[in-house]
Amino acid sequence: MCGIVACLTKDRDKPTLSIGIDALTRLEYRGYDSAGAAFRTASNTIICKKAIGKILNLQKELEEYDQTALTPLILHTRWATHGTVTTSNAHPLSDCSGNFYIAHNGIVENYTSLKKQLQEEGHVFLSETDTEVIAHLIEKYFINNLEDAVRKALEQVVGTYGIAVISTYEPDKIVAASLSSPLLIGLGEDIIFVASDLSAIAPYIQKVVYLDDREVAVIEPNGYTIIREKKPQEVQWSGSAHDKGNYPHYMLQEIMEQPSTLEETMRGRLDLQEGSAKLGGLISVAVRLSRVNNVQLVGCGTAYHACLFGEYLLEEHACISSKSEVSSEFRYRKRALSKDTALIAVSQSGETADTLAAIKDAVSNNILALGITNSIGSTQTRITDAGVYTRSGTEIGVAATKTFTSQLVSLVLLALLLGRQRKLTLPEGQTIVNELLRIPNLVRHTLLCTDRVLEIAKKYENCENFFFLGRKYNYPIAKEGALKLKEISYVHAEGSYGGELKHGELALVSEHFPSICIVPKDSVYDKMVSNIEEIKTRNGTVIAITTEGNTELKSIADDVIYIPETLEILYPILSIIPLQLFAYHFANLRGCDIDKPRNLAKSVTVE
Ligand code: AGP
Ligand code: GLU
Repeated sequence: MCGIVACLTKDRDKPTLSIGIDALTRLEYRGYDSAGAAFRTASNTIICKKAIGKILNLQKELEEYDQTALTPLILHTRWATHGTVTTSNAHPLSDCSGNFYIAHNGIVENYTSLKKQLQEEGHVFLSETDTEVIAHLIEKYFINNLEDAVRKALEQVVGTYGIAVISTYEPDKIVAASLSSPLLIGLGEDIIFVASDLSAIAPYIQKVVYLDDREVAVIEPNGYTIIREKKPQEVQWSGSAHDKGNYPHYMLQEIMEQPSTLEETMRGRLDLQEGSAKLGGLISVAVRLSRVNNVQLVGCGTAYHACLFGEYLLEEHACISSKSEVSSEFRYRKRALSKDTALIAVSQSGETADTLAAIKDAVSNNILALGITNSIGSTQTRITDAGVYTRSGTEIGVAATKTFTSQLVSLVLLALLLGRQRKLTLPEGQTIVNELLRIPNLVRHTLLCTDRVLEIAKKYENCENFFFLGRKYNYPIAKEGALKLKEISYVHAEGSYGGELKHGELALVSEHFPSICIVPKDSVYDKMVSNIEEIKTRNGTVIAITTEGNTELKSIADDVIYIPETLEILYPILSIIPLQLFAYHFANLRGCDIDKPRNLAKSVTVE
């Protein structure tokens, strides 16, 4: 979703467009619908160019400025929230005079009333966006100092923002500010950046400072000032994360990487002797954790499906009463959380607006807030009390795959730790640890089903509706399998409980509405087989995912995919693999844009 890159060089005459575009392109994977850039010229005027669609279109608009575009330079990728996708709605946006240009991530919730008031005062608006009101407010409050005007403008704004602003009046300055939208300052040798994501600028900088809520930063050629000065942290960056190697799509690469990403999630964390897990990120809250009697898991989309898995797991193996809820519902629900509750927020990006709001709410109520995230230095890591990194490496495909299985394993590690502090016995803990050690190889083995899954995808290529059914630990996997298919192939898919079918959904089942049933040999196997029979009796089509060596389903289901045998709680880590591959092959056969599905963004930083 939306991205900001802005930069200022020490050398005023140095053209910097190519660096800016390169940095913006590194944010491309997050999803956007238009892009723009505003920069200073040698005569200290500002030129602004914008284009809808890919960054490539913007590059065409900028071709003639390659050697003349000077800093400050601000660039933006927009993911429209207010106003259609047009060039005039793309950012940067300016005030009436063209002296102030702003790139904004977020939403100005009170923009209607602000716009009305500004129009009454004579301001003329050129876009339909909410963002444009900030540009006019800055124009209104500017006397002789950009940061003061920005600060006054933001006092009027209700909503969320990460902004970068430049002005012709102070041509050697960028003013940046943030509220519930990530923004950081990156320090390179002779260049300073403002960006919404470290990955955009990491190759160009050595140090980084994250802006906190309501902080305003002033960037000048020789340095930066923030109201609350903070110590820069070292940047750790291995430049290879954005290379998809020989794979046609990042998503396929990320699916295939899972044996090694899971190894990384577990590296140094398994304690066979104690039948437990060592999670360094939770040491600081060890005492509070030992007193926890309730867990509330929150997340969105795929991360929410991990929460659902965590709910079954923590309840059964850590003996802690657990609930999960999507963050956007949780934040507006009137709840009675007892003080012995821990909130566990699961988020790949650590920047999902609704999940961050849920965390803030918990923290303000003195509830222990823990995070599970893949994103080092993300807002989530800074506002939670403690957390666990999933260590999956950068995930570029919008559809989460490797980060999901790492979330599942992280939750198993957490259940081991909490369980061993409670009723999980040593032999039970050791059995789980021993099986976790086998998981990377079992995933490797499961991935061999890719050709079989492709065959099945071809067979059902023309179907427009699918059911995904599972029970207990595999119910979240049914939901996740359906989400994967919806996201990247745009066909209708529903993930449901096997047991719910006969309460209504069965009416939809037909030969052309296949049901993908997750039915490993676990404690609910027989129940799932009965559900499959219910479908077959009504001429429904069934694709079953079951345990190797189980021959029973061959004669009942239309197609069978096999996964290796493991513990009941670990089956989801294996059963999701064929579903990820099914979504991938199915969408690929239908010619969909796999890594950047329509209407979606990698990280959802607006409510
Ligand atoms: C996953 O395939 C989706 N792209 C989406 O549901 C995602 O999981 C959700 O937006 C939450 O993101 P987060 O993990 O970064 O918080
Ligand atoms: N709300 C702004 C708009 O629609 C910003 C969207 C974004 O964050 O990209 O233009």
